[in-house]
Amino acid sequence: MADMLSTTAAAPAVIRRADYRAPDWLIPDIALDFDLDPALTRVEATLSVTRNGDHDRPLRLDGDGLVPLAVKVDGRTLEEAEWHLEAGALIIPLSGDSHRIETLVELAPQSNSKLMGLYASGGLLCTQCEAEGFRRITFFPDRPDVLSRYSVRMSADKARFPILLANGDPIEQADLPDGRHSALWNDPFPKPCYLFALVAGDLACNADSFVTMSGREVQLGIWVKEADLPRTAHAMKALKDSMAWDERVYGREYDLDVFNIVAVADFNFGAMENKGLNIFNSRYILADPETATDIDYDGVEGVVAHEYFHNWSGNRVTCRDWFQLSLKEGFTVFRDQNFSADMGSHAVKRIEDVRILRAAQFQEDSGPLAHPIRPESYMEISNFYTATIYNKGAEVIRMMALMLGAERFRAGSDLYFDRHDGEAATCEDFVAAMEEGGQIDLGQFRRWYEQAGTPHVRALLSHDPVAQSVELTLEQTVPATPGQPDKQPMAIPLRTALFDPATGQHHGDELLMLTEPKQSFTFTGFAAAPVLSINRGFSAPVIVETNRSQADLAFLSAHDDDPFARYEAMQQLMVNVLIGRIAGQDTDDGAVIDAIRNTLTDPALDPAFVAETIRLPSEAYLGDQMKIVDPDAIHAARDALQTKIGAELMPLWRDIHAKTKANAFSISSAAKGARKLRNAALHYLVASGAQDGPAIAFGQFSEADNMTERQAALGTLANGSSPEREAALDIFYNRYSADALTLDKWFQTQAFALHPDAVEQVQALGQHKDFTLANPNRVRSLYGAFAGNQWAFHHGSGKGYALVADCIIALDKLNPQTAARLVPPLGRWKRFDEGRAALMRAQLQRILAQPGLSKDVTEQASKSLE
Ligand code: ARG
Ligand code: ZN
Repeated sequence: MADMLSTTAAAPAVIRRADYRAPDWLIPDIALDFDLDPALTRVEATLSVTRNGDHDRPLRLDGDGLVPLAVKVDGRTLEEAEWHLEAGALIIPLSGDSHRIETLVELAPQSNSKLMGLYASGGLLCTQCEAEGFRRITFFPDRPDVLSRYSVRMSADKARFPILLANGDPIEQADLPDGRHSALWNDPFPKPCYLFALVAGDLACNADSFVTMSGREVQLGIWVKEADLPRTAHAMKALKDSMAWDERVYGREYDLDVFNIVAVADFNFGAMENKGLNIFNSRYILADPETATDIDYDGVEGVVAHEYFHNWSGNRVTCRDWFQLSLKEGFTVFRDQNFSADMGSHAVKRIEDVRILRAAQFQEDSGPLAHPIRPESYMEISNFYTATIYNKGAEVIRMMALMLGAERFRAGSDLYFDRHDGEAATCEDFVAAMEEGGQIDLGQFRRWYEQAGTPHVRALLSHDPVAQSVELTLEQTVPATPGQPDKQPMAIPLRTALFDPATGQHHGDELLMLTEPKQSFTFTGFAAAPVLSINRGFSAPVIVETNRSQADLAFLSAHDDDPFARYEAMQQLMVNVLIGRIAGQDTDDGAVIDAIRNTLTDPALDPAFVAETIRLPSEAYLGDQMKIVDPDAIHAARDALQTKIGAELMPLWRDIHAKTKANAFSISSAAKGARKLRNAALHYLVASGAQDGPAIAFGQFSEADNMTERQAALGTLANGSSPEREAALDIFYNRYSADALTLDKWFQTQAFALHPDAVEQVQALGQHKDFTLANPNRVRSLYGAFAGNQWAFHHGSGKGYALVADCIIALDKLNPQTAARLVPPLGRWKRFDEGRAALMRAQLQRILAQPGLSKDVTEQASKSLE
């Protein structure tokens, strides 16, 4: 491998956490002057620089693709010999301890296809600087521990760019000759350059206001294309709810007089928390019943909250270096998860979050790209915006919150914010504040920051009828991961309860701390053997294996008072049946069907919770339970069980489907729950093979007054081969082809379809006139979705692998960040049979052999081959 890399391209440099050094120069102030134009933008920067410590190193200003047209020091233009470029960076030797540096560069935003730095999107000009995009705008020490006060002047053609926005507060506006105008913005809070932003364009504003807890009025603006204004109400509500929530739950108040959000169509990720000027992928702002599903509505609410919460967890307290990324991301995900739970159902939100964790993070943690939530090294930091940093990072915070309890956790977070306000902090700073503020020893717990891999816990319960006691033996192992062959035991908090099967009650919920490789806990007062409920609420991000029988699981699926544990018991019941079938055994599915029937007919249960628990584990999750994944056997077994459940419970499905039809659309939790259950019923009804299934689905598709029911019906039809399938796809396309976000659903539905011809269909869609590699949402809708469709992507011929590799190779030339995100599915070859593994490796090698491959894709593909 090393040989191959060295013959094709120089291996990208490895950046190590251990090499951190404080910055040589500080930049207390920066003034930027943008002469904006999509074809040619001029950027003048004036930096006040001060020497940091006693050293004689030159000033080094990062740059990426920049050419300095002029360099001045203290007003004097330098000769070319007085500076030089080194790996894109501008190096200037300086004699004194503080100087004024001026630079001038030119940019071409309209040809910036990487969508990092200043770029054009749908007639707008906008920026994305995290992690290292600012160096594509101007020469600057592009690292998060250099904090500066920004003053930003923009000038542009007034007709094309009537709105000019930047961070902080608007200071002045002026008309200029030749139809141009200018605006000046000032941000009083020192910030790292990754939080810089500007937007210029023809935008309309949904304007509102919020009065903070100290009585200050903040002007809120959500800026979109005029036609999209009616789709911004949900985002505005989410913003105001978030502002109130952060005051109530964390005591954190917003600090500027304005807070603006802009939606753009072309965006590499979800959104960005630039100070006072959040920039969003439009899919996380725009929502109306006609085009957005309930999942989309929840996505808008969660991401608006996430970016808003960053104002404290990320902006006021930022990261010292990018190895600390989880400091802001893990904590902020934890905060947005709890916010969303408070806005809706705690039980359902927890189930959804765990499902995402297992689908994305557990897979990452068990593969070649596994890394701790605080990594030790990277080649390209963009590759570390991962489910591990975000979602496992949030789980680690959640465990601390659980161990501390609400009050002490709040004391810890108060201490953290107060102590580090205005600073660039580390994960260790956070843990130390929790330790001190919350009065707890987190010594061993810190291993969650150091060790990668999902811990496995084996829980065995044994009953002694004579002593009337039970012994719970817990054993943990942390699997080897790249660079970490040997692991230390972790501190694992496990919420546990023991149920008396006779009464259906338990004897209290206890938090057991598993800290040793093997530990036993004894409980007395059990004449009969109890049933174990463990990792309740998913208290720790671990894989638990138990010796519980199908009868125990069936009992818990009906009686556990912890909704997550109840869901989990049901899932395990299904997993056991399916894994047996996949292995060729004729396992009995009676308990599964009974449990689903009981759940469906329990009037005490929330329909949204019912819908979650009755769905079969995904094909990918079943694959995760196997040493060697057999995609075809998994699909066959799951499909057959689905058909059987559909047929056996047919009257229930029909009844629920009819009963949950609403008269008018509402976005309330109750209405969302009813739709979720209705869609689940439709899904089983069609899966049963009932003659009228496709017609009923087509009926729902045609009559629905909302996208949640319309898309679910389309998805159900897409799995089959009925005439209704093609009819519905055509209708959907004709109705929405002009609306990019909704057309994405048309691509995505087909890429997700459990259809034997899915590979050919995706291949054809890649040639469709509406497909483009220039828009990341479109790429993710087709190839991202397809790579997550286990049965289709892992087609035994390898044609699915070739399709994704072709996309990666083509996209890498335009947008390496988004291309690199498609690599990990190809890296899971160790989990597949030798035939598939060889085909996957061959595609990774083909990718690596491309001349001029980006650092982003090189890192992901080369690590994936190891
Ligand atoms: N900080 C942003 C968020 O989580 C994500 C930025 C991702 N950007 C990137 N280049 N990886 O809200
Ligand atoms: Zn974030």
